[in-house]
Amino acid sequence: MPAAEIVQLLRETIGLDPDSIGQPTVDRAIQERQAASGLTDARAYWARVRTSKDELQALVESVVVPETWFFRDPGAFDALSAVVRHGALPMATEPLRLLSVPSSTGEEPYSMAMALLDAGVPSARFQVDAMDVSRIALDRADAAVYGRNSFRGSGTLGRDHHFETAPGGRRVCERVRRQVRFRHGNLLASPFIPGRDRFDIIFCRNLLIYFDRPTQNRVIDGVGALLKPDGLLFVGSSEGGLALSHGYVSAKLPMAFAFRRPQPARAQRAPARPVPVTVSGQMPVPLTPSPQPISPAPAIETPELSADAFCRLGVEQEAQGSADEAEASFRKALYLDPRHHDAVTRLARLVERRGADAEAKVLWSRAHRLAAGGAR
Ligand SMILES: C[S@@+](CC[C@H](N)C(=O)[O-])C[C@H]1O[C@@H](n2cnc3c(N)ncnc32)[C@H](O)[C@@H]1O
Repeated sequence: MPAAEIVQLLRETIGLDPDSIGQPTVDRAIQERQAASGLTDARAYWARVRTSKDELQALVESVVVPETWFFRDPGAFDALSAVVRHGALPMATEPLRLLSVPSSTGEEPYSMAMALLDAGVPSARFQVDAMDVSRIALDRADAAVYGRNSFRGSGTLGRDHHFETAPGGRRVCERVRRQVRFRHGNLLASPFIPGRDRFDIIFCRNLLIYFDRPTQNRVIDGVGALLKPDGLLFVGSSEGGLALSHGYVSAKLPMAFAFRRPQPARAQRAPARPVPVTVSGQMPVPLTPSPQPISPAPAIETPELSADAFCRLGVEQEAQGSADEAEASFRKALYLDPRHHDAVTRLARLVERRGADAEAKVLWSRAHRLAAGGAR
């Protein structure tokens, strides 16, 4: 049945889970592409799409959801300004490197650049890379002219200086455009970004929801490999659980959906100084060196020691009835020492108790394997 094969091809190529946009939508897109190709036979279209890169790209274009707008979920951009203003990211020598993937038609990476410029970060001190699988979206991003749909919400209030009037809408001004470099890229390709690029900040928002679980896991691991150890990962408002289940911890930035890798040494010795975040719409504050910049996290102690410490912390938290915190601590223990049997079994029990049966099953079999292999 060609339709099922084409759906599978889309799943393998861009990770699309047909249920996320609805099977009828996918079927319609296939039929429209078949008609546009001048083919009346479904089998002939299947032969075309699997042998022609251009036709496959055209089909991809017809199923992707390029929905985006400037300063979408504005808390993320407030947090971005706040972390650079308060020195919470080490940017002493190298310019800050940011990635927006998927960038869609460009509103997200341009918003990142605007937020940093408004925070007073000099243009030479940062670079935003932006990638998307849709060439049509990237062409629109390059043109940088936007209509009303791109200006939903209040995020662009007070940012008129970044736009100029243009036929068909408002154009992002040259000063912002220069900060953003667009390239075509598929998050499922390996390597996704050739070379050894690492980023301080990655926005990977509102894409994971279109993937099935194995693809989500693969993509979040791939994106994580591009993040510097102290970096921040921003996800969509409904994608935070996935970051947590991959060993990230909340960066504790209000409404930002920002995560970082656990930094146990800092967590045990002194709580990280909270970064004050100004709510969107206020006057931008120029960048001034923070009187006491937050220093990068000290090197992690021996993994065994820290994993044990987190496991003990989890036991205490569980005893005090804080199941969520305990769960997070056991995950940190496992992040540091994936063979920590006590942490696996305790986490399995907690996860099972809150009804996440599939994850509990995986954790229990991991615990049994570790026990069989003489784990700690
Ligand atoms: C809903 S938009 C999200 C844009 C922006 N990050 C935001 O949150 O507003 C989803 C984008 O994901 C892109 N996309 C889908 N699959 C992709 C893949 N495998 N690799 C890269 N981009 C992909 C689509 O082309 C689309 O532009």
